[in-house]
Amino acid sequence: MRKNFIITVMVSAAIMMASCKDVRRSPGRYYMPDMTYSRAYETYAELDTNIFTNKTSDLGEGKIFYNALPVHGTVARGEMPEYPYKNDSLGYAMSATVVNPLPALSADEMKEAERLYLVNCGICHGPKLDGNGPLYNDGNGPYTAAPKNFMIDAMKAMPEGTMFHSVTYGKNAMGSYASQLTTKQRWEIIHYIKSKQGVGAPAAAAKDSTAMAAK
Ligand code: HEC
Repeated sequence: MRKNFIITVMVSAAIMMASCKDVRRSPGRYYMPDMTYSRAYETYAELDTNIFTNKTSDLGEGKIFYNALPVHGTVARGEMPEYPYKNDSLGYAMSATVVNPLPALSADEMKEAERLYLVNCGICHGPKLDGNGPLYNDGNGPYTAAPKNFMIDAMKAMPEGTMFHSVTYGKNAMGSYASQLTTKQRWEIIHYIKSKQGVGAPAAAAKDSTAMAAK
């Protein structure tokens, strides 16, 4: 009996000593990670932890929870291909080589593009695209940074890809519109701006699709 007691004490002591190893601590298993970490509302949005993604998770490499991101470069059905350039000076320079992947818009699509422009951009860049929307208002509005006037030559000359780059990543005082507008919507708006500038697809006036195809 006494022998058993001594053995038990010795074994317990050995286990205790062994558990004091100098290893990286892990908080162990999460019973409900959703409660430990808040989930994002949007699928694939940035999270306050990478535990839900397939990056090296907080649980250790290879331990994947649900909501794993798709493999880089994956394009969902019906989605437009990913924009290839990063938000850096090289990406900005390269953006000039990217052409608008959308064909010329039909009159209906152009109307929708105009609506998207007025909702998202007109407040600063102006309904007349003159860079003087109600938020700026000749410098008297609450927004003091001057939005670009799309009707000047420099903006008429700006490649569509560069416009897309800036709308996607933001430019100085202008924020990114990547989470408010889909890739397609951003390209549609750029078609709209170019048509208003008189340098893009002459689709706004075109009524029948044959005229569009001929473009
Ligand atoms: C909150 C005000 C604001 C809104 C809304 C806004 N912009 Fe801008 N935008 C600016 C300002 C300010 C600049 C000038 C940035 C700079 O170069 O300093 C600018 C610049 C630009 C440029 C030039 C970028 C470059 O590379 O020089 C483009 C193109 C543009 N905006 C497109 C858009 C489009 C399209 C939308 C709508 C999706 C939009 N903007 C919404 C404020 C705004």
